[in-house]
Amino acid sequence: MLFWRVKPLDLILETAEQKALTRTLGAFQLTMLGIGAIIGTGIFVLTAEAATRAGPAMMISFVIAAFVCAVAALCYAEMAAMVPVSGSAYTYSYATMGELVAWVVGWALVLEYAVAASAVSVGWSGYMVGLVREVLGVELPHALVAGPFDRNPGLVNLPAMGIALLITWLLVLGTRESARFNAVLVAVKLSALGLFIVLAAPAIQAENFEPFMPNGFFARTVIDPISGNLVTVGVAAAAASIFFAYVGFDAVSTAAEETVNPQRNLPIGLIGSLAICTLIYLGVAAAATGSVGAQPGGALAQSREALAFVLREVGHGWAGDLVAIAAGLALPSVILMMMFGQTRIFFVMSRDGLLPPVFARLHPRYGTPHVVTLTTGVFVALFAALFPVGQLADISNSGTLFAFFTVAVGVMILRRTQPERTRHFRTPAVWVIAPLAAAGCVFLFFQLSGATELMFLGWAAFGLLVYYAYGRNRSHMATVLRTRTG
Ligand code: ALA
Repeated sequence: MLFWRVKPLDLILETAEQKALTRTLGAFQLTMLGIGAIIGTGIFVLTAEAATRAGPAMMISFVIAAFVCAVAALCYAEMAAMVPVSGSAYTYSYATMGELVAWVVGWALVLEYAVAASAVSVGWSGYMVGLVREVLGVELPHALVAGPFDRNPGLVNLPAMGIALLITWLLVLGTRESARFNAVLVAVKLSALGLFIVLAAPAIQAENFEPFMPNGFFARTVIDPISGNLVTVGVAAAAASIFFAYVGFDAVSTAAEETVNPQRNLPIGLIGSLAICTLIYLGVAAAATGSVGAQPGGALAQSREALAFVLREVGHGWAGDLVAIAAGLALPSVILMMMFGQTRIFFVMSRDGLLPPVFARLHPRYGTPHVVTLTTGVFVALFAALFPVGQLADISNSGTLFAFFTVAVGVMILRRTQPERTRHFRTPAVWVIAPLAAAGCVFLFFQLSGATELMFLGWAAFGLLVYYAYGRNRSHMATVLRTRTG
């Protein structure tokens, strides 16, 4: 019963035609969309988390995470070009493994997108608080800029909550404006990271890389010297965290139904944006580590605004402020992309009858799925208000890794079950790449903390309850199958 109600691909493509979104995005815009979704809190903020877990060897963590994402992106590209329909991994698994698996994947994607949006909101808040302190000389009350579950607990993270709500409003106004808005901010981000590398690289000193791997390779749990809480450390554990920095390329695929010539443009957007970001990240990680050192418990590891901190340390305070301003301006574009992805996935799940139909309702004037956008926005804001960025990123990663895993498996299943179907992009050496992607995801998942893994399982179990209580009987596929057999 696990693989029941497999949705025929032709039917998926047909349903998409019925409630169509307008096609406006091309290859360039998709690549920009990808970079817009990828570069964010991961590199700007979680570099500090990576230092805590791995020390200078975090550069290896960046490479491991990039590798897993690259092989996963090659699988995503085949799926996205073959099934150019919104809904990403959810839709693909519906076509390969059936409704139950699809539902669990869609449910996991909530972690990937909505929780990621919360994480980025918290990252944004860290930079804003630093900027207000450096530029205006005002120290905002800690209780109002950190949630109760922070290493250094506060009451509520108001800036994080505020930005999440602002983005929700922008999304309700419409995709077109959002894509343009994104393009400008991508330029800002790329300039900031370029400036960072140029200014921090000359300060690189060989001794900052020693000791290189203070916490070893595989994940293990130790007591955090700062908070006294348990933390999971190791190079692979840092990879499982910094994986967050690469997530987002798949947001490109969630815009499939709004893309012109998706068969050509989706693979370009997916793989192009990931490749560009990987190169930049390696430069940033090397420059940050080499210039100020990255020992666990050190100053970089404790910073909430890692890149601005590095620049201030190497004597370029002005550039630190500029990078903080860039993060302040640009991180909202990541929140926007993550929430965009989330709303489109809910939209498709609702169109399939697995979520209430009100979620697929479009705004009469703006043409956007406003009900689902507002619902998502409220939850994103709530999580951003309460949780610290590292935890949110880890939880988000658990859902993403699961989704990537199913996409890799789905590609293999479809190669076997429907070899004749036209594939506008074929994953190269699929029997090597897809198993590597699947294995990479499993590996990184088990490098997350035990608490994160448990959260993931709890969320999945809750999802199953919701499915059996609601979606199972209302699913449109159920009706289709009844009509066909009856
Ligand atoms: N990759 C995105 C970020 O780092 C989610 O913010």
